[in-house]
Amino acid sequence: MSSLEEPIGLERVSNLNGVNWVQRFSSGACRPRVDEAEMGNCLIEGRSCSSSNSCDEEYARETYHWRRQREKIRGDSLSPRTLCLGRNQKVFDNVCDSWYLQDHQYSKPCNERDIRGLTNKFLRGIPRFVKIVEVGPRDGLQNEKTIVPTAVKIELIRRLVSSGLLVVEATSFVSSKWVPQLADAKDVMEAIRNVDGARFPVLTPNLKGFEAAVAAGAKEIAIFASASESFSMSNINCSIEVSLSRYREVAAAAKKLSIPVRGYVSCVVGCPVEGVVPPSKVAHVAKELYDMGCYEISLGDTIGVGTPGTVIPMLEAVMDVVPIDKLAVHFHDTYGQSLPNILISLQMGISTVDSSISGLGGCPYAKGASGNVATEDVVYMLNGLGVKTNVDLAKLMSAGEFICKHLGCQSGSKTAVALGKINADAYKI
Ligand code: HMG
Ligand code: MG
Repeated sequence: MSSLEEPIGLERVSNLNGVNWVQRFSSGACRPRVDEAEMGNCLIEGRSCSSSNSCDEEYARETYHWRRQREKIRGDSLSPRTLCLGRNQKVFDNVCDSWYLQDHQYSKPCNERDIRGLTNKFLRGIPRFVKIVEVGPRDGLQNEKTIVPTAVKIELIRRLVSSGLLVVEATSFVSSKWVPQLADAKDVMEAIRNVDGARFPVLTPNLKGFEAAVAAGAKEIAIFASASESFSMSNINCSIEVSLSRYREVAAAAKKLSIPVRGYVSCVVGCPVEGVVPPSKVAHVAKELYDMGCYEISLGDTIGVGTPGTVIPMLEAVMDVVPIDKLAVHFHDTYGQSLPNILISLQMGISTVDSSISGLGGCPYAKGASGNVATEDVVYMLNGLGVKTNVDLAKLMSAGEFICKHLGCQSGSKTAVALGKINADAYKI
């Protein structure tokens, strides 16, 4: 049985603001070395609560202060997206709009301001605009066994950009022995050199990768460290400290060329080998990346085991050492927890979210991890919340259809599957 088949369980993960955060263990706890005696116990400020309900109430009180509002949200009007797919466009538009608005339409006339107002009331602190970092061409494809032709990758990137995505992670300048799928990084970068409208960061694990990326025309790079020693070894073949010293060199070289550097921290909740990863470790690595000049730190739940219960203390620890507006979240969706995790992250003040078209992806060095949260699902949720993204859902879905058709797989996006079906039905009317 892989380490991913059982949930990351309950464990005291940190001591934050005098609160002992305890995760709840399921009966099948993840690792044998976790203290079984704590199963079912919920410790808050040293007190033991017998029922999970009482602990939940305490937990909610303790965590309320996250609803830090970085800005006063004005009653802004949002243009709910309408979808224009095919000749029965009007039918399709009506169906889709009604889903966005259905919760409110019976009680009172529904308009955009109403949605925003209700959102403000119950989801204080969520940003008005979320920047989506599309990682499909890199994280989404890197795990595909069959090599995707360069022309398909380029067309995918073009379609993603035309949907309105402002940042599309294009590829990686890593060893082709380690990640054969992305061996054509140079060709991909050269082909998209003149594509306007988006930024195209690329992964670089060391100076060699950085130099190759710059030579291929990269204007932005990303470095990727881990909060877990074991994952660092299996992913980039060195310890966390060695990786950080390599990244310092890369960051210094990038600074000389005024190239912005994004930083990743992997395994921010759990590691496929080590199990639970303490928030303090994540905070340490995030701060190192920030101190070396990363303009943004993306916190990756590489194996998708996080729930809001484990993501919250992790974010809290990181937010103590890195400004919140420099943070992004990157959830793989192994347990279907990405959307609640994103929602709680937005409530805590984060406004940058990584996602992958059609939920493609996974890390070749995190066995069993599934793809990232699907970009279509993120956009659908944000549309429903009245949060702007600049992304046209219909065009995004068309990019998803394009790549899924090529890969011969069904979309991992529930939104794409559902709206695709509605569209197909509309054709029959
Ligand atoms: P290594 O084998 O320890 O490196 O690999 P080395 O320095 O000993 O060199 C071995 C060979 O690799 C040499 O070639 C080097 O020239 C070459 P040889 O002499 O044998 O012909 N080499 C390179 N070639 C191309 N580009 C380079 C490069 N560097 C060395 N940059 C290395 C170390 C880091 C290179 C390797 O482990 C590697 O490429 N790892 C990549 C792993 C990877 O891409 N993982 C997936 C991305 S991370 C991820 O998905 C997580 C994330 O999404 C966030 C999340 O979900 O949490 C970001
Ligand atoms: Mg990833």
